[in-house]
Amino acid sequence: MAILQSTMDKISSKKLTTLIILFFIAFPLALTANLMFRTSTFALFELFSQNKVAMKNASLPTSTNDPTSSSIRDKKTKPIGGLLASGFDESSCISRLQSHLYRKPSPHKPSPYLIYKLRNYEELHTRCGPNTRDYRRSMIKIVNSENNGNAAMCKYLVCVPVNGLGNQMISIAATFLYAVLTDRVLLVRFGEDKYRLFCEPFLNSTWILPKSFPFWNYKLVETYESMLKKEKGKNSKEDLPSTLFLNLQHTKNEPDKFFHCDHSQDLLRNVPLLILKSDQYFVPSLFMNPSFNSEITKMFLERDTVFYHLGGYLFQPSNEAWGLISKFYQEHLSKADERIGLQIRVFAPDSTPQQAVMDLVLRCTIKNKLLPELDTQNSMPYRMKNKSIKVVLVTSLKAEYGENLRNMYENKATVTGEVIRVYQASHEEHQKHHDKMHNMKAWMEMYLLSLCDVLVTTSVSTFGYVAQSLGGLRPWLLYKLTNNDTHFPACERDFSLEPCYHIPPNHYCNGNLIKDFVSTFLYLRGCKDFSNGVKLVNDTTTILDHGP
Ligand SMILES: *[C@@H]1O[C@H](CO)[C@@H](O)[C@H](O)[C@H]1NC(C)=O
Ligand SMILES: *[C@@H]1O[C@H](CO)[C@@H](O)[C@H](O)[C@H]1NC(C)=O
Ligand SMILES: *[C@@H]1O[C@H](CO)[C@@H](O)[C@H](O)[C@H]1NC(C)=O
Ligand SMILES: *[C@@H]1O[C@H](CO)[C@@H](O)[C@H](O)[C@H]1NC(C)=O
Ligand SMILES: *[C@@H]1O[C@H](CO)[C@@H](O)[C@H](O)[C@H]1NC(C)=O
Repeated sequence: MAILQSTMDKISSKKLTTLIILFFIAFPLALTANLMFRTSTFALFELFSQNKVAMKNASLPTSTNDPTSSSIRDKKTKPIGGLLASGFDESSCISRLQSHLYRKPSPHKPSPYLIYKLRNYEELHTRCGPNTRDYRRSMIKIVNSENNGNAAMCKYLVCVPVNGLGNQMISIAATFLYAVLTDRVLLVRFGEDKYRLFCEPFLNSTWILPKSFPFWNYKLVETYESMLKKEKGKNSKEDLPSTLFLNLQHTKNEPDKFFHCDHSQDLLRNVPLLILKSDQYFVPSLFMNPSFNSEITKMFLERDTVFYHLGGYLFQPSNEAWGLISKFYQEHLSKADERIGLQIRVFAPDSTPQQAVMDLVLRCTIKNKLLPELDTQNSMPYRMKNKSIKVVLVTSLKAEYGENLRNMYENKATVTGEVIRVYQASHEEHQKHHDKMHNMKAWMEMYLLSLCDVLVTTSVSTFGYVAQSLGGLRPWLLYKLTNNDTHFPACERDFSLEPCYHIPPNHYCNGNLIKDFVSTFLYLRGCKDFSNGVKLVNDTTTILDHGP
């Protein structure tokens, strides 16, 4: 029902009158569509995909019969619960309209405060984004270092995401949160290989940093580190530069260690242009700042849904990516009773035999009953008493993992009688940076994994983090194997939807070493897959095995 309701939002209000009239004409037809839905979800799913006309037809009776959506204009029935602004040109980003049809209704609703903050941010971006008068004026002032007393000028946060696509996505999401918290316009310095992966998230504007940006070569910009050294921390507002470069990359940069502290943020607030390079999900570090903390807490009532909401908001697959995703989904995943996403990342392929990885995967999935054991007593393939179909989507740089699993289950009976089908979308052999098609496939696979019902990912992989957080899933984290060992347990269930921040600050703002995050920061926990890392957790009663 929720699937049907939310399609109503595609119907803009100007079409409303027409639709109400058409409703009476189309009612018998639509009723048929509704009945079809009751017999088969998939049948309607296909009906939806055929064309927008059919979607509108089918959605009419459900919405009018449902007392909770008496008004078609009810904003709460928008896709992703009102997170996305309306008014976009539908054909420019098909996934924005269709993606919710591929997901179960979400149990995680965005808070009204989050929606309010996003609408405010969008206004700022429309006013100050590239190709606006305010952008040009602000850049001229920034270039001329006119930094004092320009309260009216726009402030910017340029995100320089580095490392693989997963790292880049988690750092873009964290940087966006920082931009929202500090009323800055987010501009992303995308590599050209990333231009076509995502839709533009902001209406009538762009988040892509223009090539004409005066500080494109950010290596010339004064670093936060050198500013602190030069001024020995005694900066007055007037001394501050108009542009600063911050490095929050995993290669630890000591002087940026107080990024989470008020004394840093008080200085940074007065610098109109910040360039922030990162490959990390530094949201926990924002959470450690008292004033950001209270905002974040208001925006995210469930604290472990930061990436879930912001990632879902920012990362809509482009039409090209969506074509690949929806085609693969419809061909292989849509007919399954249950979808298992299995992400296998081998970090040291030379020292880790494939068999050891395969054993680890099977011990994890079979022990936790994600996949059934083979029925060795029964030579008949597919006992007919239970024909439920489980599809396993394998993502890996190597084809062998998918092939092994497929061979294992192909034409074999399982103890549960379930039929197991195994698909792998690609096998690229090596991770490639700056390669457009490689990134397109990676994005497609992360997204497909996020559409699964159950997720098994590899520890410490940011590719897995994106899939888990976008899908709102707590994955089974496979042990990060780097040799021919056998490790117990093979995997552990994550306790939070959030990505892990691998390099949290080591110091309190007074310079003392942080020995125990949990006692100071109630909603931070050591990550299960990386003991030095921390992540947000919704529930304070979550018990930890590891802690930093
Ligand atoms: C409903 O669908 C039918 C056939 O699929 C089509 O002829 C008709 O125009 C559609 N009505 C609306 C409101 O789009
Ligand atoms: C976006 O642009 C379109 C067409 O140029 C215009 O009709 C619409 O009002 C604009 N929306 C906003 C929010 O500026
Ligand atoms: C059939 O498969 C489902 C899982 O899809 C399982 O829960 C159930 O126990 C199985 N039934 C039998 C009789 O094995
Ligand atoms: C890995 O260890 C197993 C025994 O645990 C052994 O049979 C196998 O040959 C080893 N493989 C490699 C590549 O060393
Ligand atoms: C998150 O935590 C709040 C209390 O802090 C609780 O009411 C809510 O049920 C939790 N949500 C989930 C999904 O665990």
